[in-house]
Amino acid sequence: MRACRREPVPYTPIWLMRQAGRYMREYRDVRSKTTFLDLCKTPELAAEVTVTAVERLGVDAAIIFADILLILEPMGIDLEFAAGEGPVIHNPVRKPTDVDQLLEIEDVSALEFVNEAIRQTRRALRPDIPLIGFCGAPFTLASYVIEGGGSKNYVHTKRLMYDDRGAWHALLSLISRGLAKYLNAQIAAGAQAVQLFDSWIGCLGPDDYREFVLPHTQSVIRSVTPGVPVIHFGTGTAALLELMREAGGDVIGLDWRVRLDEGWQRIGHDVAVMGNLDPVSLFAKQDSLREQAKRILDQAGGRPGHIFNLGHGILPETPVENVIALVEMVHEL
Ligand code: CP3
Repeated sequence: MRACRREPVPYTPIWLMRQAGRYMREYRDVRSKTTFLDLCKTPELAAEVTVTAVERLGVDAAIIFADILLILEPMGIDLEFAAGEGPVIHNPVRKPTDVDQLLEIEDVSALEFVNEAIRQTRRALRPDIPLIGFCGAPFTLASYVIEGGGSKNYVHTKRLMYDDRGAWHALLSLISRGLAKYLNAQIAAGAQAVQLFDSWIGCLGPDDYREFVLPHTQSVIRSVTPGVPVIHFGTGTAALLELMREAGGDVIGLDWRVRLDEGWQRIGHDVAVMGNLDPVSLFAKQDSLREQAKRILDQAGGRPGHIFNLGHGILPETPVENVIALVEMVHEL
Protein backbone atom coordinates (compact mmCIF):
# COMPACT_ATOMS: atom_id res chain seq x y z
CA MET A 1 0.00 0.00 0.00
CA ARG A 2 2.90 2.33 0.76
CA ALA A 3 4.53 1.53 -2.56
CA CYS A 4 1.26 2.40 -4.32
CA ARG A 5 1.46 5.82 -2.67
CA ARG A 6 5.19 6.17 -3.47
CA GLU A 7 6.14 6.22 0.20
CA PRO A 8 9.43 4.68 1.35
CA VAL A 9 9.34 0.95 2.10
CA PRO A 10 11.80 -1.30 3.98
CA TYR A 11 12.04 -3.66 0.96
CA THR A 12 10.47 -3.84 -2.49
CA PRO A 13 7.09 -5.54 -2.20
CA ILE A 14 6.23 -8.34 -4.62
CA TRP A 15 3.10 -10.17 -5.72
CA LEU A 16 2.46 -12.03 -8.96
CA MET A 17 -0.39 -11.88 -11.41
CA ARG A 18 -2.19 -15.27 -11.51
CA GLN A 19 -0.42 -16.26 -8.32
CA ALA A 20 -3.31 -18.62 -7.57
CA GLY A 21 -3.40 -20.84 -10.62
CA ARG A 22 -2.79 -24.15 -12.30
CA TYR A 23 1.00 -24.15 -11.76
CA MET A 24 0.30 -24.77 -8.05
CA ARG A 25 -0.64 -28.22 -6.81
CA GLU A 26 -2.87 -26.84 -4.05
CA TYR A 27 -4.88 -24.98 -6.71
CA ARG A 28 -5.17 -28.02 -8.96
CA ASP A 29 -6.43 -30.09 -6.01
CA VAL A 30 -9.28 -27.67 -5.31
CA ARG A 31 -9.96 -27.14 -9.01
CA SER A 32 -10.15 -30.89 -9.76
CA LYS A 33 -13.36 -31.10 -7.72
CA THR A 34 -15.24 -28.34 -9.53
CA THR A 35 -15.39 -26.21 -12.69
CA PHE A 36 -13.50 -22.94 -12.97
CA LEU A 37 -16.72 -20.88 -12.94
CA ASP A 38 -18.06 -22.73 -9.90
CA LEU A 39 -14.76 -22.19 -8.13
CA CYS A 40 -15.11 -18.45 -8.77
CA LYS A 41 -18.71 -18.52 -7.53
CA THR A 42 -18.04 -20.41 -4.29
CA PRO A 43 -16.67 -17.83 -1.84
CA GLU A 44 -15.20 -20.39 0.56
CA LEU A 45 -13.14 -21.97 -2.24
CA ALA A 46 -12.17 -18.67 -3.87
CA ALA A 47 -10.98 -17.41 -0.49
CA GLU A 48 -9.10 -20.64 0.14
CA VAL A 49 -7.11 -20.55 -3.11
CA THR A 50 -6.42 -16.83 -2.68
CA VAL A 51 -5.01 -17.26 0.83
CA THR A 52 -3.14 -20.49 0.08
CA ALA A 53 -1.19 -18.83 -2.74
CA VAL A 54 -0.13 -15.96 -0.46
CA GLU A 55 0.98 -18.28 2.32
CA ARG A 56 2.80 -20.70 0.02
CA LEU A 57 4.70 -17.98 -1.85
CA GLY A 58 5.36 -15.42 0.88
CA VAL A 59 4.19 -12.55 -1.34
CA ASP A 60 3.24 -9.13 0.03
CA ALA A 61 -0.28 -8.88 -1.40
CA ALA A 62 -3.26 -11.07 -2.24
CA ILE A 63 -5.42 -10.71 -5.34
CA ILE A 64 -8.94 -12.01 -5.00
CA PHE A 65 -9.51 -15.19 -6.96
CA ALA A 66 -12.06 -14.37 -9.68
CA ASP A 67 -11.96 -13.60 -13.40
CA ILE A 68 -12.29 -10.48 -15.51
CA LEU A 69 -15.06 -12.12 -17.56
CA LEU A 70 -17.48 -12.75 -14.66
CA ILE A 71 -19.09 -9.33 -15.05
CA LEU A 72 -20.23 -10.29 -18.54
CA GLU A 73 -22.80 -12.85 -17.35
CA PRO A 74 -25.15 -10.34 -15.69
CA MET A 75 -24.86 -8.26 -18.88
CA GLY A 76 -26.53 -11.11 -20.75
CA ILE A 77 -23.41 -12.77 -22.13
CA ASP A 78 -23.39 -16.56 -22.26
CA LEU A 79 -19.92 -17.45 -20.97
CA GLU A 80 -18.23 -20.84 -20.78
CA PHE A 81 -14.71 -21.90 -19.87
CA ALA A 82 -14.25 -24.84 -22.20
CA ALA A 83 -11.58 -27.32 -21.09
CA GLY A 84 -8.30 -26.58 -22.86
CA GLU A 85 -9.82 -23.80 -24.96
CA GLY A 86 -10.03 -20.87 -22.61
CA PRO A 87 -13.12 -18.67 -22.47
CA VAL A 88 -15.90 -19.01 -25.06
CA ILE A 89 -18.82 -16.61 -25.46
CA HIS A 90 -21.77 -18.20 -27.23
CA ASN A 91 -23.58 -14.96 -28.12
CA PRO A 92 -20.87 -12.51 -29.22
CA VAL A 93 -21.76 -8.93 -30.15
CA ARG A 94 -21.20 -8.54 -33.87
CA LYS A 95 -23.75 -6.01 -35.09
CA PRO A 96 -24.57 -2.59 -33.71
CA THR A 97 -28.06 -3.85 -32.80
CA ASP A 98 -26.47 -6.62 -30.67
CA VAL A 99 -25.20 -3.88 -28.36
CA ASP A 100 -28.79 -2.87 -27.60
CA GLN A 101 -29.52 -6.41 -26.38
CA LEU A 102 -26.97 -6.20 -23.57
CA LEU A 103 -28.17 -5.47 -20.05
CA GLU A 104 -27.15 -2.53 -17.90
CA ILE A 105 -25.62 -3.57 -14.57
CA GLU A 106 -27.97 -1.69 -12.24
CA ASP A 107 -26.47 -3.09 -9.08
CA VAL A 108 -23.89 -5.77 -8.58
CA SER A 109 -26.05 -8.22 -6.64
CA ALA A 110 -25.47 -10.83 -9.37
CA LEU A 111 -21.76 -10.63 -8.53
CA GLU A 112 -22.27 -10.74 -4.78
CA PHE A 113 -20.21 -13.96 -4.63
CA VAL A 114 -17.10 -11.90 -5.41
CA ASN A 115 -17.83 -9.51 -2.55
CA GLU A 116 -18.45 -12.42 -0.21
CA ALA A 117 -15.15 -14.01 -1.30
CA ILE A 118 -13.44 -10.69 -0.54
CA ARG A 119 -14.98 -10.54 2.95
CA GLN A 120 -13.99 -14.14 3.71
CA THR A 121 -10.49 -13.66 2.30
CA ARG A 122 -10.01 -10.49 4.34
CA ARG A 123 -10.93 -12.38 7.50
CA ALA A 124 -8.56 -15.26 6.71
CA LEU A 125 -5.56 -13.23 5.56
CA ARG A 126 -2.80 -11.93 7.77
CA PRO A 127 -3.87 -8.35 8.61
CA ASP A 128 -0.72 -6.82 7.11
CA ILE A 129 -1.31 -8.39 3.69
CA PRO A 130 -3.40 -6.09 1.50
CA LEU A 131 -6.13 -7.58 -0.71
CA ILE A 132 -6.38 -6.39 -4.31
CA GLY A 133 -9.72 -6.35 -6.13
CA PHE A 134 -9.82 -6.21 -9.91
CA CYS A 135 -11.72 -5.99 -13.16
CA GLY A 136 -10.96 -6.13 -16.86
CA ALA A 137 -10.50 -2.78 -18.54
CA PRO A 138 -13.23 -1.70 -20.98
CA PHE A 139 -11.28 -2.49 -24.16
CA THR A 140 -10.15 -5.96 -23.12
CA LEU A 141 -13.66 -6.89 -22.01
CA ALA A 142 -15.18 -5.49 -25.21
CA SER A 143 -12.73 -7.55 -27.25
CA TYR A 144 -13.98 -10.75 -25.57
CA VAL A 145 -17.62 -9.71 -26.00
CA ILE A 146 -17.11 -9.03 -29.70
CA GLU A 147 -14.68 -11.79 -30.66
CA GLY A 148 -16.43 -14.41 -28.52
CA GLY A 149 -13.10 -15.50 -27.02
CA GLY A 150 -9.41 -14.82 -27.39
CA SER A 151 -8.16 -13.41 -30.68
CA LYS A 152 -5.04 -12.90 -32.73
CA ASN A 153 -5.94 -9.96 -34.98
CA TYR A 154 -9.08 -8.53 -33.33
CA VAL A 155 -10.78 -8.21 -36.70
CA HIS A 156 -14.36 -8.20 -35.38
CA THR A 157 -13.47 -5.81 -32.59
CA LYS A 158 -11.72 -3.29 -34.80
CA ARG A 159 -14.32 -3.55 -37.54
CA LEU A 160 -17.09 -2.58 -35.13
CA MET A 161 -14.87 0.17 -33.72
CA TYR A 162 -14.08 1.69 -37.13
CA ASP A 163 -17.44 1.10 -38.81
CA ASP A 164 -19.82 2.17 -36.07
CA ARG A 165 -18.41 4.60 -33.57
CA GLY A 166 -21.83 5.08 -31.99
CA ALA A 167 -22.23 1.38 -31.22
CA TRP A 168 -18.61 1.15 -30.07
CA HIS A 169 -18.87 4.01 -27.60
CA ALA A 170 -22.28 2.77 -26.40
CA LEU A 171 -20.76 -0.67 -25.72
CA LEU A 172 -17.70 0.69 -23.91
CA SER A 173 -19.80 3.12 -21.86
CA LEU A 174 -22.16 0.34 -20.84
CA ILE A 175 -19.25 -1.86 -19.77
CA SER A 176 -17.56 1.06 -17.98
CA ARG A 177 -20.64 1.96 -15.95
CA GLY A 178 -20.85 -1.65 -14.78
CA LEU A 179 -17.14 -1.75 -13.93
CA ALA A 180 -17.31 1.35 -11.77
CA LYS A 181 -20.08 -0.17 -9.65
CA TYR A 182 -18.31 -3.52 -9.54
CA LEU A 183 -14.99 -2.08 -8.32
CA ASN A 184 -16.63 0.10 -5.70
CA ALA A 185 -18.60 -2.90 -4.40
CA GLN A 186 -15.33 -4.85 -4.11
CA ILE A 187 -13.85 -1.93 -2.19
CA ALA A 188 -16.88 -1.74 0.12
CA ALA A 189 -16.40 -5.48 0.78
CA GLY A 190 -12.76 -4.98 1.79
CA ALA A 191 -10.52 -4.68 -1.30
CA GLN A 192 -7.81 -2.17 -0.39
CA ALA A 193 -6.49 -1.50 -3.90
CA VAL A 194 -7.93 -2.33 -7.31
CA GLN A 195 -6.36 -3.30 -10.61
CA LEU A 196 -7.66 -2.85 -14.15
CA PHE A 197 -6.39 -5.53 -16.53
CA ASP A 198 -6.14 -4.22 -20.09
CA SER A 199 -4.43 -7.39 -21.21
CA TRP A 200 -5.07 -7.05 -24.96
CA ILE A 201 -4.76 -3.28 -25.40
CA GLY A 202 -1.39 -3.69 -27.13
CA CYS A 203 -3.17 -4.47 -30.40
CA LEU A 204 -4.09 -0.78 -30.78
CA GLY A 205 -1.97 2.12 -31.94
CA PRO A 206 -1.87 5.36 -29.96
CA ASP A 207 -4.37 7.32 -32.05
CA ASP A 208 -6.99 4.61 -31.76
CA TYR A 209 -6.28 4.25 -28.05
CA ARG A 210 -6.88 7.95 -27.54
CA GLU A 211 -10.11 8.05 -29.48
CA PHE A 212 -11.70 4.70 -28.73
CA VAL A 213 -10.42 3.66 -25.32
CA LEU A 214 -8.92 6.41 -23.19
CA PRO A 215 -12.17 8.21 -22.27
CA HIS A 216 -13.74 4.96 -21.10
CA THR A 217 -10.83 3.68 -19.04
CA GLN A 218 -10.49 7.17 -17.58
CA SER A 219 -14.14 7.25 -16.56
CA VAL A 220 -13.80 3.92 -14.70
CA ILE A 221 -10.66 5.06 -12.89
CA ARG A 222 -12.22 8.41 -11.96
CA SER A 223 -15.23 6.59 -10.47
CA VAL A 224 -13.14 4.55 -8.04
CA THR A 225 -13.72 5.42 -4.38
CA PRO A 226 -11.25 8.22 -3.54
CA GLY A 227 -8.18 7.18 -1.60
CA VAL A 228 -8.10 3.62 -2.96
CA PRO A 229 -5.02 3.07 -5.13
CA VAL A 230 -5.69 2.00 -8.72
CA ILE A 231 -3.20 -0.18 -10.62
CA HIS A 232 -3.58 0.24 -14.38
CA PHE A 233 -2.02 -2.71 -16.20
CA GLY A 234 -1.73 -3.70 -19.84
CA THR A 235 0.56 -5.72 -22.08
CA GLY A 236 2.21 -4.76 -25.34
CA THR A 237 1.92 -1.18 -24.18
CA ALA A 238 5.35 0.21 -25.08
CA ALA A 239 3.70 2.61 -27.54
CA LEU A 240 0.86 3.53 -25.19
CA LEU A 241 2.45 4.24 -21.81
CA GLU A 242 1.97 8.01 -21.81
CA LEU A 243 -1.66 7.58 -22.84
CA MET A 244 -2.27 4.95 -20.17
CA ARG A 245 -0.87 7.38 -17.67
CA GLU A 246 -3.24 10.03 -18.96
CA ALA A 247 -6.16 7.61 -18.60
CA GLY A 248 -5.19 7.30 -14.95
CA GLY A 249 -3.99 5.09 -12.15
CA ASP A 250 -1.72 5.51 -9.16
CA VAL A 251 0.41 2.62 -10.37
CA ILE A 252 1.10 1.75 -14.01
CA GLY A 253 1.80 -1.93 -14.77
CA LEU A 254 4.64 -2.45 -17.24
CA ASP A 255 5.24 -5.60 -19.25
CA TRP A 256 8.74 -6.92 -19.95
CA ARG A 257 9.03 -5.50 -23.46
CA VAL A 258 10.07 -2.11 -22.06
CA ARG A 259 12.95 -1.42 -19.71
CA LEU A 260 11.52 -0.47 -16.34
CA ASP A 261 13.71 2.62 -16.03
CA GLU A 262 12.77 3.93 -19.48
CA GLY A 263 9.09 3.18 -18.96
CA TRP A 264 9.09 4.93 -15.59
CA GLN A 265 10.95 7.91 -17.02
CA ARG A 266 8.39 8.25 -19.79
CA ILE A 267 5.31 8.17 -17.56
CA GLY A 268 6.98 10.28 -14.90
CA HIS A 269 8.29 9.56 -11.44
CA ASP A 270 5.18 11.10 -9.89
CA VAL A 271 3.37 7.83 -10.51
CA ALA A 272 4.26 4.37 -9.17
CA VAL A 273 5.13 1.38 -11.38
CA MET A 274 4.55 -2.34 -11.18
CA GLY A 275 6.57 -4.97 -12.99
CA ASN A 276 8.14 -6.21 -15.06
CA LEU A 277 9.85 -9.61 -15.14
CA ASP A 278 9.22 -11.82 -18.17
CA PRO A 279 7.03 -14.69 -16.85
CA VAL A 280 9.17 -17.11 -18.86
CA SER A 281 12.21 -16.16 -16.71
CA LEU A 282 10.66 -18.42 -14.09
CA PHE A 283 11.47 -21.42 -16.28
CA ALA A 284 15.21 -20.63 -16.25
CA LYS A 285 17.83 -21.67 -13.69
CA GLN A 286 17.72 -19.69 -10.46
CA ASP A 287 21.05 -17.96 -11.22
CA SER A 288 19.66 -16.27 -14.30
CA LEU A 289 16.35 -15.63 -12.58
CA ARG A 290 18.29 -13.78 -9.91
CA GLU A 291 20.20 -11.76 -12.48
CA GLN A 292 17.01 -10.70 -14.18
CA ALA A 293 15.29 -9.81 -10.91
CA LYS A 294 18.35 -7.79 -9.91
CA ARG A 295 18.37 -5.95 -13.22
CA ILE A 296 14.80 -4.82 -12.67
CA LEU A 297 15.50 -3.74 -9.09
CA ASP A 298 18.59 -1.85 -10.29
CA GLN A 299 16.49 -0.06 -12.88
CA ALA A 300 13.98 0.92 -10.19
CA GLY A 301 17.03 2.37 -8.42
CA GLY A 302 15.57 2.29 -4.92
CA ARG A 303 13.09 5.00 -5.87
CA PRO A 304 9.87 4.78 -3.83
CA GLY A 305 6.88 3.49 -5.79
CA HIS A 306 8.04 0.22 -7.29
CA ILE A 307 5.99 -2.95 -6.82
CA PHE A 308 7.76 -6.00 -8.18
CA ASN A 309 5.61 -8.25 -10.37
CA LEU A 310 5.79 -10.17 -13.61
CA GLY A 311 5.04 -8.36 -16.85
CA HIS A 312 2.00 -10.68 -17.24
CA GLY A 313 0.52 -13.67 -15.41
CA ILE A 314 2.32 -16.82 -14.23
CA LEU A 315 2.15 -19.53 -16.89
CA PRO A 316 0.58 -22.91 -16.07
CA GLU A 317 3.77 -25.02 -16.29
CA THR A 318 5.89 -22.69 -14.11
CA PRO A 319 7.95 -24.51 -11.43
CA VAL A 320 6.54 -23.39 -8.10
CA GLU A 321 9.95 -23.58 -6.38
CA ASN A 322 11.24 -20.89 -8.73
CA VAL A 323 8.32 -18.64 -7.86
CA ILE A 324 9.06 -19.04 -4.16
CA ALA A 325 12.77 -18.40 -4.85
CA LEU A 326 11.92 -15.22 -6.78
CA VAL A 327 9.93 -13.81 -3.86
CA GLU A 328 12.87 -14.48 -1.53
CA MET A 329 15.36 -12.96 -3.99
CA VAL A 330 13.38 -9.75 -4.37
CA HIS A 331 13.06 -9.37 -0.62
CA GLU A 332 16.74 -10.08 -0.09
CA LEU A 333 18.02 -7.88 -2.93
O1 CP3 B 1 -4.13 -13.37 -10.42
C1 CP3 B 1 -4.79 -14.17 -9.71
O2 CP3 B 1 -4.27 -15.11 -9.07
C2 CP3 B 1 -6.28 -13.89 -9.56
C3 CP3 B 1 -7.12 -14.63 -10.42
C4 CP3 B 1 -7.25 -14.26 -11.88
C5 CP3 B 1 -7.65 -15.21 -12.85
N1 CP3 B 1 -7.88 -14.57 -14.02
C6 CP3 B 1 -7.82 -16.65 -12.58
C7 CP3 B 1 -7.90 -17.58 -13.71
C8 CP3 B 1 -7.15 -13.03 -12.54
C9 CP3 B 1 -6.69 -11.70 -12.01
C10 CP3 B 1 -7.57 -13.24 -13.89
C11 CP3 B 1 -7.66 -12.16 -14.89
C12 CP3 B 1 -7.91 -12.52 -16.28
N2 CP3 B 1 -8.78 -13.44 -16.79
C13 CP3 B 1 -7.32 -11.86 -17.36
C14 CP3 B 1 -6.38 -10.70 -17.25
C15 CP3 B 1 -5.03 -11.15 -16.89
C16 CP3 B 1 -4.31 -11.79 -18.03
O3 CP3 B 1 -3.88 -12.94 -17.86
O4 CP3 B 1 -4.12 -11.09 -19.03
C17 CP3 B 1 -7.81 -12.44 -18.54
C18 CP3 B 1 -7.43 -12.07 -19.95
C19 CP3 B 1 -8.74 -13.43 -18.16
C20 CP3 B 1 -9.56 -14.27 -19.06
C21 CP3 B 1 -9.22 -15.68 -18.88
N3 CP3 B 1 -9.55 -16.42 -17.77
C22 CP3 B 1 -8.54 -16.51 -19.78
C23 CP3 B 1 -8.00 -16.08 -21.12
C24 CP3 B 1 -8.48 -17.77 -19.19
C25 CP3 B 1 -7.97 -19.06 -19.79
C26 CP3 B 1 -6.51 -19.14 -19.62
C27 CP3 B 1 -6.00 -20.49 -20.04
O5 CP3 B 1 -4.79 -20.53 -20.26
O6 CP3 B 1 -6.77 -21.46 -20.10
C28 CP3 B 1 -9.07 -17.69 -17.92
C29 CP3 B 1 -9.18 -18.78 -16.93
C30 CP3 B 1 -8.50 -18.56 -15.62
N4 CP3 B 1 -8.59 -17.42 -14.88
C31 CP3 B 1 -7.72 -19.53 -14.91
C32 CP3 B 1 -7.35 -18.91 -13.70
C33 CP3 B 1 -6.57 -19.52 -12.57
C34 CP3 B 1 -7.44 -20.94 -15.34
C35 CP3 B 1 -8.72 -21.69 -15.27
C36 CP3 B 1 -8.62 -23.12 -14.83
O7 CP3 B 1 -8.36 -23.39 -13.61
O8 CP3 B 1 -8.86 -23.98 -15.66
